[in-house]
Amino acid sequence: MAQHLPFDPPIPMVDLVGQHARIQSELDEALLRASHQAHYIQGPDVAAFAGELSAYLGEGVHTIPCANGTDALQIALMALGLQPGDEVITATFTYVATAEVIALLGLTPVLVDVEPGTFSLDLDQVRAAVTPRTKAIVPVHLYGQGADMDALLALANERGIPVVEDTAQALGARYTLRDGRTLALGTLGTVAARAFFRRKTWVAWATVGRYLPATPRLRNESAWSPTTAKKSSTATTWWAATAAWTRCRPRCFA
Ligand SMILES: Cc1ncc(COP(=O)(O)O)c(C=O)c1O
Repeated sequence: MAQHLPFDPPIPMVDLVGQHARIQSELDEALLRASHQAHYIQGPDVAAFAGELSAYLGEGVHTIPCANGTDALQIALMALGLQPGDEVITATFTYVATAEVIALLGLTPVLVDVEPGTFSLDLDQVRAAVTPRTKAIVPVHLYGQGADMDALLALANERGIPVVEDTAQALGARYTLRDGRTLALGTLGTVAARAFFRRKTWVAWATVGRYLPATPRLRNESAWSPTTAKKSSTATTWWAATAAWTRCRPRCFA
């Protein structure tokens, strides 16, 4: 039977109150500023944070805010123009949202096991799972680690299959490719989704998603935007107060 060490009070998994103590007045001021500006959704703080996150992730990265990581995954798949019945390969070991959005869009999730070293897609199993109906591969980068992206991108490029990186749990992780380039996880595939839930690497005041389209076609408003998603009955947007608050977060660790 499991034994629990007698810590009283228990040690929290994440001490957000402790992290925020250093910059509490800055966080409070950001929320007040957003309240006074009265944009509520979108607005200058949302645009500024999208720009700051893009700059942090690397040159040429383009970020589009939406309501949460699940929406980010959904509109990333919608932007690829997949059709009901298309197969999408993803990991058995992930948060439910990854497979959920595939099924929600009428696509067929093809679940592949992970390998023990990275907790991400086992490339031999991905190769075996690819069929002519495979229209996307969704690696899930867990605990700040990446799948074997060299092998995955080689396979995807050879077959012309887009890669949608689920980076909900890996914001801030960098990946060194075999050619020596070190890039942020989530900037290697065709498009990526991120999340800012309370226990994620970059916490937000509310749950927030980031959708990163890598190709010019996907950056085209009509192809990707949350507005397009809205027309398909997915209302997804980002709160101004959340953006204002979240922009301060990196300074907890400065
Ligand atoms: C791997 C993974 N993908 C997607 C999501 C969905 O993100 P959100 O909770 O912001 O919708 C999560 C959140 O826990 C996650 O861990």
